Amino acid sequence: MPAILHVEGLNKTYGEGASATPVLRSVDLTVEAGEFVCVMGPSGSGKSTLLHLIAGLDEAGEGTVELDGQDLSRLSGRERTLLRRRTVGYVFQFFNLLPNLTVSENVALPLLIEGRPKAEQAHIVQPLLERFDIQGRAHARPHQLSGGEMQRTSIARALAAGKPLLLCDEPTGNLSQKAGQEVMETLRAVCDEDGRTILLVTHNPRDAAFADTVRFLVDGKIEREHVLRGPGLTVEDVHGSLSALSI
Ligand SMILES: Nc1ncnc2c1ncn2[C@@H]1O[C@H](COP(=O)(O)OP(=O)(O)O)[C@@H](O)[C@H]1O
Ligand SMILES: [Mg+2]
Repeated sequence: MPAILHVEGLNKTYGEGASATPVLRSVDLTVEAGEFVCVMGPSGSGKSTLLHLIAGLDEAGEGTVELDGQDLSRLSGRERTLLRRRTVGYVFQFFNLLPNLTVSENVALPLLIEGRPKAEQAHIVQPLLERFDIQGRAHARPHQLSGGEMQRTSIARALAAGKPLLLCDEPTGNLSQKAGQEVMETLRAVCDEDGRTILLVTHNPRDAAFADTVRFLVDGKIEREHVLRGPGLTVEDVHGSLSALSI
């Protein structure tokens, strides 16, 4: 079985000539199906850029990204879109819910796009609303929700779509500590109970401690020698690594 995600020699530079800014320098990363992997780095270290390249939302300068054993650069634009739609869910700091749709319509959206019948949509969406404790908010619009409710809605949406790999970009960045903790517990359960694979990028040690392994993005590279392995990582473990790596 190929790894669900394999990244090798990934380079990304923004701008050209004198204003060229190298952001990623030969990044390697492999994530096996069912793992919960965290990549930590300070603000501006290239974490969001890495996720954009993995999701095929932007193109790398050099290097390969394989999703489910398929090299994105060898696919046509349409094939890449289909592979991404099948494989990758995104959970963002700012939720990215559609403001004019209700909570339940937001969760159902990927199923609507696939053309699934209404009854089938409800059959998938209803249990997710209950599980994530947003059933009482099913007819509310995003602006009426708390941050935690918005993020749980966006995780429910990614699950409704059946995506095996969730890319989570600072998913607690806009939440209180308590709501953030709940969202991280939700992601942990989505890995343990649903067998989804999670790639989390964050600068928050509290969030990183939920992962099975933590890697560090330093000067545009993922430190090969330094990997924290759980289960049972603590915030202190993560702080220890950050100070050992001077980040
Ligand atoms: N579209 C872009 N054009 C130019 N520079 C960018 C662009 N996106 C990000 N950058 C720069 O690349 C670096 C890494 O950004 P980013 O991937 O957003 O980091 P992080 O998510 O770790 O905070 C930053 O210096 C940022 O200013
Ligand atoms: Mg970012």
